[in-house]
Amino acid sequence: MTWLITGGAGYIGAHVARVMAGAGERVVVLDDVSSGVPGRLPADIPLVRGTSLDGDLVRSVLAGHAVTGVVHLAARKQVGESVEQPLRYYRENVGGLATLLQEVVDAGVGRFVFSSSAAVYGNPPAVDLVTEDTPCAPVSPYGETKLAGEWLVRAAGRAHGITTTCLRYFNVAGAERPELADTGVFNVIPMVFDRLTRDDAPRVFGTDHPTPDGTCVRDYIHVSDLAEAHLAAARRTAGPGTDLTVNIGRGIGVSVRELLAVIADVTGDRRAPVVEPRRAGDAPRAVADAGLAAKELGFTARRGVEEMVASAWAGWCLRHPEAARG
Ligand SMILES: NC(=O)c1ccc[n+]([C@@H]2O[C@H](COP(=O)([O-])OP(=O)(O)OC[C@H]3O[C@@H](n4cnc5c(N)ncnc54)[C@H](O)[C@@H]3O)[C@@H](O)[C@H]2O)c1
Repeated sequence: MTWLITGGAGYIGAHVARVMAGAGERVVVLDDVSSGVPGRLPADIPLVRGTSLDGDLVRSVLAGHAVTGVVHLAARKQVGESVEQPLRYYRENVGGLATLLQEVVDAGVGRFVFSSSAAVYGNPPAVDLVTEDTPCAPVSPYGETKLAGEWLVRAAGRAHGITTTCLRYFNVAGAERPELADTGVFNVIPMVFDRLTRDDAPRVFGTDHPTPDGTCVRDYIHVSDLAEAHLAAARRTAGPGTDLTVNIGRGIGVSVRELLAVIADVTGDRRAPVVEPRRAGDAPRAVADAGLAAKELGFTARRGVEEMVASAWAGWCLRHPEAARG
């Protein structure tokens, strides 16, 4: 097999490319470098610079590298931006996917793995674990594009005999090595690091949620575990035209207070958080049922929150040396 990894110079994509190449798969990356960093990829992984929205380019990459499977991570991913620019998000995340799938079908590529997100659930109902059967009700254009993307992937796969897997990632964190860390400040861990680096106390939104310590509970997964889930999805033995949609999380809830305690241990910065009111629409708890991934992919995450926070902090300090000096 040769795998095209779109968005492979991105935070998650670079981990996926390295894990798949390290496991002996041939990989080629297509990335427009809009938010990606080419230096995340080792020299022996070919990088084609360009957009997956360009059907002619995709066709030439599929043919030129004799691609037999695609892992599609390239997308815009900022929830707030998607509210301001819904047309762009639909054009790039859904329209771009349709273009890519057309080329995949025309080239006879037989396998497709799609980066979906727990954002498809929106604010899940008050359940202990979110299963794949929990109703999807995205609350942002970003989440909508991921759900529409899943529909497109499954329908095209069934119609054209492609084996498809949609991976619904929960809260991704950490890095295999500091240079591969996420450079964005869109998730809670880098947001707290950012506050500490500015000499501000971390913020907690709501301590009166119906959770054990009153703060929101989420399911954090190390990006290296997530990358291994992609390898498992790529190697899934299933017949042509079959589809699998699966949560990728640990199935373990971690509250904001628990997360802040780990961050304090890792950074040595123990200042008390500032408590702000609840944010409208924040679900008290969103934790994956990880059972289907274990059953269908043989995948279980191994790395804990301490490892996620410590590796994310090492990446943060590489780019913010002033933070490391405390
Ligand atoms: N980071 C998370 O917590 C998270 C959670 C759920 C789902 N996801 C999904 O995972 C995927 C990767 O996210 P990430 O966190 O690595 O983001 P990222 O921004 O680091 O990576 C996206 C990569 O895709 C590239 N790219 C964007 N549009 C492109 C296009 N049209 N053609 C070619 N390349 C393009 C960017 O340059 C970048 O390298 C996305 O689909 C995202 O929606 C991420």
